[in-house]
Amino acid sequence: MRAFPEDFLFGVATASYQIEGAWNEDGKGESIWDRFAHTPGNILDGTTGDVACDHYHCFAEDVALMQELGVSAYRFSISWPRVLPSGKGAVNEKGLAFYRRLIEKLKEAGIKPVVTLYHWDLPQALQDRGGWESEETVEAFAEYARLLFATFGDDVHLWITHNEPWVVAFPGHYEGRVAPGKRDFQAALRVARNLLLAHGHAVRVFREVNPKGAIGIALNLSPAHPATEKEEDQEAAWRFDGYLNRFFLDPLFRGQFPEDMLTFYRKKGFILEPFTKEERALVAQPLDFLGINYYSRHVVRKGEEPVLETEAVRLPGKKYSDMGWEVYPEGLYELIHRVTEDYAPRAIHITENGYCSPDVPSCDGSIDDEERIAYLEAHLEALHRAISEGCPVRGYFVWSIMDNFEWTFGFSKRFGLVYVDYATQQRIPKKSFFFYQRVIRERALA
Ligand code: FCB
Repeated sequence: MRAFPEDFLFGVATASYQIEGAWNEDGKGESIWDRFAHTPGNILDGTTGDVACDHYHCFAEDVALMQELGVSAYRFSISWPRVLPSGKGAVNEKGLAFYRRLIEKLKEAGIKPVVTLYHWDLPQALQDRGGWESEETVEAFAEYARLLFATFGDDVHLWITHNEPWVVAFPGHYEGRVAPGKRDFQAALRVARNLLLAHGHAVRVFREVNPKGAIGIALNLSPAHPATEKEEDQEAAWRFDGYLNRFFLDPLFRGQFPEDMLTFYRKKGFILEPFTKEERALVAQPLDFLGINYYSRHVVRKGEEPVLETEAVRLPGKKYSDMGWEVYPEGLYELIHRVTEDYAPRAIHITENGYCSPDVPSCDGSIDDEERIAYLEAHLEALHRAISEGCPVRGYFVWSIMDNFEWTFGFSKRFGLVYVDYATQQRIPKKSFFFYQRVIRERALA
C-alpha cells in the first residue's frame, strides 16, 4: 500500500463556462466565451456552453455525486460576468447568490471549496474595451477579486487567481483557437504580462482583506523534451520551455521574465518590457501554493513556426489520449521535482490531471473506462513517489468530476469521472468514479 498523508486533499475540478449553462439567466452578462462559441465556425461540433451540464440548476445533484465520491475538496471557477455583468461596477446579487448556495451545499457535504477567479470567461464588456491587452482589465480584475474575497473570504479553502494564463495569452491571442480568438503575437505578449500583473494585484488585495484561506495560481506546466539529440532540437526544447513554463514561473518566483526569452523575443522584433522594480515586487509576492495542471509532456524539434521556430513531434509506439496528448506519467514526477528544486514553492497542488476518452455506455448502461483508470493510477503513483521524496504536494484534483464543454472541441471530448448524457442531463458514474472513490476511502494506492 502506498499511503497518502493524513491531510492530503483529494478533489475534483471544473470551470464555470464548461458546466454551468444558464448563459443569460438571472442577470448574467455576456462573456467572451459566449461570444466566441456563438460565432459560427469556432467550435468543432457547432455546440455552445449555453446549457452545458446545466449545473446552474443541477448543482445540488452534482454536489451529492461529489459527496458519494468522497472528495475533500471541489475546485470550481466563478463566472466574472455572472457576478459583475459589465466586468465592473454594478453587482448582480442573483449571481452571487448562486455561488452562495453552492458553497452552502458544499459545506453541508463536508467538501472544501477551492475557487478559481478567472477560468477564461472574461466579461465581453471588458473585451470590447481591449480585454487583457488593456490596463483597465487589470484594474477591474483587482476589484472583482476584492468583491469575492469580501463576500466568500472565510468559506473558501484555496483561492486561485488565474487558470493557465499561458492559454489565455497564446492560444487566445496568437493561435486564435480559444476566446477571444486573436492572431497577434505582440498582443499575446502584452496579455501575458498583464495577466501576471493582475495576479499580483489580486494577491495584494487578498493580503489586505486577509480572509482565512490561502492563495495561489494554476499554471499549465509540462516538460519540454527534444525529439532528437541534435543541438538545434535541444535548443528548440529549451526555447519551448521558456515559452510555456519559465515565462510564468520566473516572474512569479523570481520577479522577472527569463533573460533568454526577453532576448529572443526582442530579436524577433517584439516589444516586451521587463518588469520594473515595483512591478517585480507585485508579481513575485510570496504565494501560499503553486497550482499545477498536468496532462502530458511536449516533445519538440526545430521547426517552421514563424515565432518560436519549433514543431511538435509525435513519437512512434507511445500511447496518446483522445485529445492526441501522450500518456506520460513520469512527466508529472519530473515536473514536481523540477519546480520544487528550482522555485521552492511553499506548497504544490495538482489542480488538474485527467484523461480524455470516447466513452460510450454499454447495453447495461455502465461505462467501462479502463484507460482512464490506468492513467489516473499511474499519475497518482508518480505523485506519491514525489511526495515520499519530500516534494511538498498537498492536493490532487481530477479533471473533471463530469464530462463537460471542452472549449473548442465542444461536447466531442469527455474527461469526466461521471458520464453526462447531454440530451437528458442524466449523470452516470463511470468505472473510474469507483476507482477514485476507493483511492480516497483508503487514502492509498493498492
Ligand atoms: C485545461 C483547462 C480545463 C480543461 C482541461 C482539459 O487546459 O484548464 O478547463 O479543459 O484542459
